[in-house]
Amino acid sequence: MRPRVYVTRLIPEEALKKLADNVDYRIWESGLPVPRDVLLREVPPVDALLSLLTDKVDGPIMDAAPKLRVISNMAVGFDNVDLREATRRKIMVCNTPEVLTDTTADFTFALLLAAARRVVEGERVVRAGKWKTWGPMILLGRDVHHATLGIIGLGRIGAEVAKRAKGFSMRVLYHQRKRRPEMEKQLGVEFRDLNSLLAESDFVTVHCPLLPETHHLISEEQFKIMKKTAILVNTARGPIVDPKALYNALHDRQIAYAALDVTEPEPIPMNDPLLTLDNIVIVPHIASASVATRTKMALMAVDNLLAGIKGERPPHIVNPEVLT
Ligand code: DGY
Repeated sequence: MRPRVYVTRLIPEEALKKLADNVDYRIWESGLPVPRDVLLREVPPVDALLSLLTDKVDGPIMDAAPKLRVISNMAVGFDNVDLREATRRKIMVCNTPEVLTDTTADFTFALLLAAARRVVEGERVVRAGKWKTWGPMILLGRDVHHATLGIIGLGRIGAEVAKRAKGFSMRVLYHQRKRRPEMEKQLGVEFRDLNSLLAESDFVTVHCPLLPETHHLISEEQFKIMKKTAILVNTARGPIVDPKALYNALHDRQIAYAALDVTEPEPIPMNDPLLTLDNIVIVPHIASASVATRTKMALMAVDNLLAGIKGERPPHIVNPEVLT
């Protein structure tokens, strides 16, 4: 009997083909996340699950899937999977790092520039028929070149953002729990504790994972420390930034602008007060969304999954302790 797999959404065809060559799979083909009751119904016979960051893969799902050996998440982040519960049950959890690093770093800059130079507001002006003339005082933004960028989390994506920032002649500061002296030399970046980074930066960009200790890492106190002209960019995970505190900070002009690829919750409800503000750009979690990168992520998720069900070490396993 071929291994059985459940795929929680339509993924690029190349990846599905590779899956079909090796396993029997069923798939949730709608454009929206698989409802929990459907997932609970689908998982009992499966050996592996190809999941997305929109699927909560927790203890009850694992309980319903006694044969489950691999949870292959098509994302670098895996905060949607209860890692402790999976590890306790010796289920391998895999992710898709590296392939999305450059694409996400590019997009971070797209957001940073859009916020700094008020691109979205400008576009709205044109479409509303309000572009009457060139004006010396119209839609003035902030310069990115030679400004100070504060990176929270100097992992792969943070490091690539730092490289791009150097191309804009920016001064780059970073903060993370563990200082990285070799990266400081290599990238020309300076370490700061979080408060100093917030106080000194013209732009603050978030690249740390969502963990209990980073939940609402940026909240009321942190906004008070930031410059009134500061711009906040988040392409990591929504709940790292406290949305109520962000609303107040933007509304009261404690900071100037924000650009979010991720929100809490996702999708952001249409009645969320953040959507009433002009000084924010919000896009629907698309930082890794290029054709090439999404194909690579899907193929990597399939490769992880196939290795795991063959009893081999998946190339990107996040809980390798289950193999011992
Ligand atoms: C991830 O992979 O974790 C991103 O948020 C989506 O690409």
